Amino acid sequence: MSKKVDFLVVGSGIAGLSFALKAAKHGKVLIVTKSNEDESNTKYAQGGVAVVVDKKEDSFEKHINDTLIAGDGLCEEEVVEIVVKEGPDRINEIIDYGTSFDMTNDGVYDLAKEGGHSEFRVLHYKDITGFEIERSLLEQIHKNPNIEILTHYFAVDIITQHHLGEFVDKSTTDITCYGIYALNTETNEVEKFLSKVTVMASGGAGHIYSVTTNPTIATGDGVAMVYRAKGKVRNMEFIQFHPTALYNPGDYPSFLISEAVRGFGGILRRTNGEEFMQEYDERKSLAPRDIVARAIDAETKKSGEDYVYLDIRHRSKKDLLTHFPNIYAKCLEIGIDMTKDMIPVSPACHYMCGGVLVDHYGQSSIQQLYACGECSSTGLHGANRLASNSLLEALVFAHRIYTNAIEKFEGIAIPDNIPDWDEQGVKMSNEDILVMHNIREMQKLMNDYVGIVRSDFRLERAMRRLRLLYEETESFYKQTKLSVKLCELRNLIQVSYIVVKSAMIRKESRGLHYTTDYPEHQEVLEDTVF
Ligand code: SIN
Repeated sequence: MSKKVDFLVVGSGIAGLSFALKAAKHGKVLIVTKSNEDESNTKYAQGGVAVVVDKKEDSFEKHINDTLIAGDGLCEEEVVEIVVKEGPDRINEIIDYGTSFDMTNDGVYDLAKEGGHSEFRVLHYKDITGFEIERSLLEQIHKNPNIEILTHYFAVDIITQHHLGEFVDKSTTDITCYGIYALNTETNEVEKFLSKVTVMASGGAGHIYSVTTNPTIATGDGVAMVYRAKGKVRNMEFIQFHPTALYNPGDYPSFLISEAVRGFGGILRRTNGEEFMQEYDERKSLAPRDIVARAIDAETKKSGEDYVYLDIRHRSKKDLLTHFPNIYAKCLEIGIDMTKDMIPVSPACHYMCGGVLVDHYGQSSIQQLYACGECSSTGLHGANRLASNSLLEALVFAHRIYTNAIEKFEGIAIPDNIPDWDEQGVKMSNEDILVMHNIREMQKLMNDYVGIVRSDFRLERAMRRLRLLYEETESFYKQTKLSVKLCELRNLIQVSYIVVKSAMIRKESRGLHYTTDYPEHQEVLEDTVF
């Protein structure tokens, strides 16, 4: 099958869906997504959306300032201002689409607080905010005759002039995207989807590590595809570890214990019950994530335990059940009653703060290709994302991409000589055992050498091993009929390589990138772009 549309969206989280709803007013939209339509990082976002709604206590300036402090010097100030100031309008739009946020008995929004925020400003729906947003956006999508969703289609590669036989490398200034090739996972055939405008909204890459809060679909597909197409990526060394994933060996992925629990008074304690965060930061348990995750890492290395405790027993059962019904139920499932027991927690890979380099309208370095949401690097997060800023960023940039794309799309022509996917030379046998082995090997080396605390020695070891895995995987890829797992392995290795290369370039510690060889900030502020 081959299709031609005005707007093609890869991914069905908040970024892709909110763009699609707007673009559909102007043309045909096709959403291609690798799993079920609601399976995305968005669906698992618990805490909520940070936005200034209470102008008495809060202000744009405070939200901007908190974002800049968390970002540790590397945020683009103009982008921070754009997202914070345009955020409220975008939130009102999704409320109009039918998204609910919790209210207090006084009829005002029940705002939560999370690490690094100086005010209560996180809109939430119980502890399943992302699920609620995804639900309401999909409801609107289903009503829209101009939007088609193809589920279980895995985007394999971006189509550019390279596929027309032209030479393209990193120095080519007019690389242009004409759509994607995607694997239909039911027929196992690769199909061609052509589009005037393509929006990469494929989410994060949590599964470059074996311990992650991300759903299994988060395999860095967008970043890997753009990188292979010679597009630019930025600041990929900044991988955010959420400090408090539920410690429950065998859970894969890890279950998140929302930062909102700490915002609700949760205290981190050693396994002997002592509080410890005051030894690391004056904001204690509510310090930004990079600081808390590093503190927990240091504590567990000292104690030899695999976890610390999060203690919220001092809040009433009624309050905990109202705010955290999902977390309460999950903990209870494994024998922990959070109203009476402390919750064992440890850090887990959670969010990719770098990504596909984009401008203030989400335009990537490849023409006709935009990137939005976690797979993009807008400049908002800098070296460390402020909690609950990502859903807001996705909404604001989806809107900006929409305003930019509708100005251009009618003048765009798609060449009519784009070839079908070429399968020549591939043999049928796809041995999943080889693929799974390489995924596990890659995740282990990323855990051991490219985690919360890094060093030159560890990064070099990681790079040497990744090169071997890369060569083996590429050769296997060229000879084998495609499968989702093989494509994911290829993307995971590509993204791991970019993370390690970026980390090796940054000769300082900043935000989420901490290296024992260069523990201080460098004076010059630089992005890692290649
Ligand atoms: C959380 O609920 O702690 C996650 C929120 C986020 O990652 O922004």
